[in-house]
Amino acid sequence: MGEFDEVHARSLRDPEGFWAEAAEALEWEKRWDRVLDDSDAPHYRWFTGGRINTCHNALDRHVAAGRGEQCALIYDSPVTNTVARFTYRELRDRVAELAGALKARGVGVGDRVIIYMPMIPETVMAMLACARLGAVHSVVFGGFAAHELAKRIDDCAPKLVLSASCGIEGERVVAYKPLLDRAIEEARHKPESCLIFRRPQQDCSLQPGRDEDWMEAVSGSPPADCVAIAATDPLYILYTSGTTGQPKGIVRDTGGHAVALPWSMKNIYNIEPGEVYWSASDVGWVVGHSYIVYAPLLHGATTVLYEGKPVGTPDAGAFWRVIAQHGVVTLFTAPTAFRAIRQQDPRGELIAKHDLSRFRALFLAGERCDPDTLLWAQDKLQVPVIDHWWQTETGWPIAANCMGIEALPVKPGSPTRAVPGWDLRVLDPEGKEVAANTIGAIVGKLPLPPGTFPTLWNARERFEQTYLSTYPGFYQTGDAGYLDEDGYVFVMARTDDIINVAGHRLSTGAIEEALATHPDVAECAVIGVHDSLKGQLPVGFLVLNAGCDRPEEEIVTEAIKLVREQIGPVAAFKSATVVQRLPKTRSGKILRATMRKIADAETYTPPATIDDPAILGEIEVALQTLGYPQKS
Ligand code: COA
Ligand code: AMP
Repeated sequence: MGEFDEVHARSLRDPEGFWAEAAEALEWEKRWDRVLDDSDAPHYRWFTGGRINTCHNALDRHVAAGRGEQCALIYDSPVTNTVARFTYRELRDRVAELAGALKARGVGVGDRVIIYMPMIPETVMAMLACARLGAVHSVVFGGFAAHELAKRIDDCAPKLVLSASCGIEGERVVAYKPLLDRAIEEARHKPESCLIFRRPQQDCSLQPGRDEDWMEAVSGSPPADCVAIAATDPLYILYTSGTTGQPKGIVRDTGGHAVALPWSMKNIYNIEPGEVYWSASDVGWVVGHSYIVYAPLLHGATTVLYEGKPVGTPDAGAFWRVIAQHGVVTLFTAPTAFRAIRQQDPRGELIAKHDLSRFRALFLAGERCDPDTLLWAQDKLQVPVIDHWWQTETGWPIAANCMGIEALPVKPGSPTRAVPGWDLRVLDPEGKEVAANTIGAIVGKLPLPPGTFPTLWNARERFEQTYLSTYPGFYQTGDAGYLDEDGYVFVMARTDDIINVAGHRLSTGAIEEALATHPDVAECAVIGVHDSLKGQLPVGFLVLNAGCDRPEEEIVTEAIKLVREQIGPVAAFKSATVVQRLPKTRSGKILRATMRKIADAETYTPPATIDDPAILGEIEVALQTLGYPQKS
């Protein structure tokens, strides 16, 4: 047995011993009564009875242990020409001060706080300040529009909102405050107050009685201490796309998360405290929560907060500049970022202009990593390129090449093996395990390891129904794929209507709901088609109301605008067409999977239950007018 096999086997044989040992790395106000509590199975809880504060463990603990002068956070913003560094002591003081301001406004244990902010240090401070008080933050990605923000405000009912005047997207300044105003107007729940961080690039107006200037509110506020909460109390809620337009509030519990993340820093990413780790994502996504903010800080490493893009800020050498300038040892990003870089610098000439001698490994996740991109990155960077697989629900990797335990051989197209704590199986529709190399639903045997979500916010039934009911005893990942004879996982596709656009997870159902609000649209369908840069792009098919005689192009333009206004630019919805009818089964189910296969030029057999096969020909023609299938 190799080292990895041994560690993995032990994690499944003795999960309590395994994770209790990892929990020793943290400071607990009160130790747990039970490591793994199965009294409410299949709802398992970790470290019940324990009391802990995540902010204390991410900041104060390190200051007390002598890391106060070590850099905790590097803010690198090519879009504002700024590089700023915060030591652990500085970050702790700023967070304590902000927490003091929140406390003065009545925020305490269990209160929700929505954070709708760009990639600036204050956003990280906001998350940690909530954690300090035992409040539950919910960060909403800046690329979501007012309507999506309103849904989240209504679902988690925040006492307070933290926001900023604007974000900066490449050359474009995006006003955030008008979106927040509109969202609060639309939402039924009204937060008591909003603290607004006013950026010099674009100011905003403040609504008297509700909004306050962030800096004025914070300056001189007495610092707040950390408040220990139950290990099973929520640290945050992060909304992610489901199959409907109602997003799912993934709940992250405090203790399991605090234990799992620093463990993953050492064992998966092979990072030592004090080293510089960079996750080029956005704090609005789970990757940003876990690997820009919590994991590096809980581990005592230095994290990089990058407000820029892989290309265009200013060029395709931006990543190499950041790695060299800050001594980054490991970069974590999405394959799409590398496809964007490769498109602009196919020979990797900009890489040679920077000193990457300290750079050790590249980790990719967020979407399936095509072997071509992986091999290109490996060839140009001459470091291990590690594909790893995870989800908002799991909070940290399900499958990876655990570089801190034992580097296993890379198989392009596979995120390697289930990580310790995960017992992965592949099941057929009847719930029977399939043979190696046979595609099926990828599931994780319960209990899942600590740090994974215990439930959905205010939706225990939806949690059970979505994730636990199809295969009793297992967590349904929603991904299909196979395990090969060596136990390597191959993640091939989603089993639901979720698509992946530039590493961002989107619900075609949510886009359809937005399109359906157009007065001339009788029916619609959205599918994700293959895109050589972003992995997938959404394409919409609109059936108009009988008798509608308005020009089709006008309606298409309005429909595209509608999605941008209701969901946001992140949906990247730019392609739609009018069709006479949608292909359906006789029972009325729209054949989205068949439509996608036509768009991607895959072979397909029309299902036997199809109502009228001739419609598929019409869809093919409609796709051709939109430029699909794409020529590779
Ligand atoms: N606030 C406001 N708008 C935002 C935003 C934010 N935080 N983030 C993205 N947007 C906008 C973009 O400006 C773009 O608008 P446009 O249609 O007017 O051009 C739209 O949302 C789509 O954004 P994106 O999908 O990011 O496309 P892009 O063309 O701007 O950049 C990549 C493409 C590949 C460079 C970029 O997606 C990328 O770096 N992705 C990989 C890293 C990553 O973040 N992965 C996520 C999980 S690990
Ligand atoms: P998110 O919740 O936004 O992180 O998206 C999770 C989904 O992205 C997964 O369910 C997969 O469909 C996909 N995904 C993430 N990482 C990978 C990977 N390494 N390989 C294949 N698919 C991935």
